[in-house]
Amino acid sequence: MNPINFAQKPVLTGKKVLLRPFKAEDSERMLNILAELDVQRLTGSVHTDEEAQKPRTPEQEQKVREWYASRNAQTDRLDLAIVDAASGKVIGEAVFNEYEEYSGNASFRILIGSDGQGKGLGTEAIELFLRHGFETLGLHRVWLEVYSFNPRAERVYIKSGFILEGVKREDFRYNGEYIDTKVYGMLRSDYEAISLSSIPL
Ligand SMILES: CC(C)(COP(=O)(O)OP(=O)(O)OC[C@H]1O[C@@H](n2cnc3c(N)ncnc32)[C@H](O)[C@@H]1OP(=O)(O)O)[C@@H](O)C(=O)NCCC(=O)NCCS
Repeated sequence: MNPINFAQKPVLTGKKVLLRPFKAEDSERMLNILAELDVQRLTGSVHTDEEAQKPRTPEQEQKVREWYASRNAQTDRLDLAIVDAASGKVIGEAVFNEYEEYSGNASFRILIGSDGQGKGLGTEAIELFLRHGFETLGLHRVWLEVYSFNPRAERVYIKSGFILEGVKREDFRYNGEYIDTKVYGMLRSDYEAISLSSIPL
């Protein structure tokens, strides 16, 4: 298996969303999205509401800007901005990371800020991103983790064809309560079976 080079950052166009490489100016928008309590809670970035509500220091904000400014130079991961096609506004991001060259497996994560949620944008973004991952990059398996207190994300993953592979019991602690982490995965063969079944006869 040839190693995947993630250097090429594509533009993936759907009906409701566009996925594209980050631009320098997107970092201000991402700073706002990443400041949302629910986004921090559901992505495991913090362990308490109090931590989520703490204002960021200028140094922390600078780190976030540098992070987004450096995404296009990464050759072992893919970070794309998700843009709402109707408004042209960045609403979040989709990422393949933790790529393992020998197996061809990678982790997937997605986050969308509150103003983009619940409109079908996440579902379409996942479809476009998976298509790129399996058909263009040639990934073998895509896996993700979701907390049991995030039924919306879980619903979207199941709807997209991810299969529950296991539960890491009491893996995460939030506001003093233990939370299970569910591991979902999709093999290329799973993806191909879904793609075949969705071809109109
Ligand atoms: C998870 C996320 C990517 C989903 O994207 P989205 O655009 O909001 O989702 P969609 O509108 O495409 O679909 C939402 C689905 O969840 C369902 N849903 C919403 N709230 C739900 C709930 N509490 N329980 C179960 N299903 C729920 C909706 O009915 C819809 O399913 P349907 O199309 O079958 O009706 C997005 O909400 C998000 O990023 N949230 C914040 C961060 C996060 O949770 N990231 C994932 C970490 S693992």
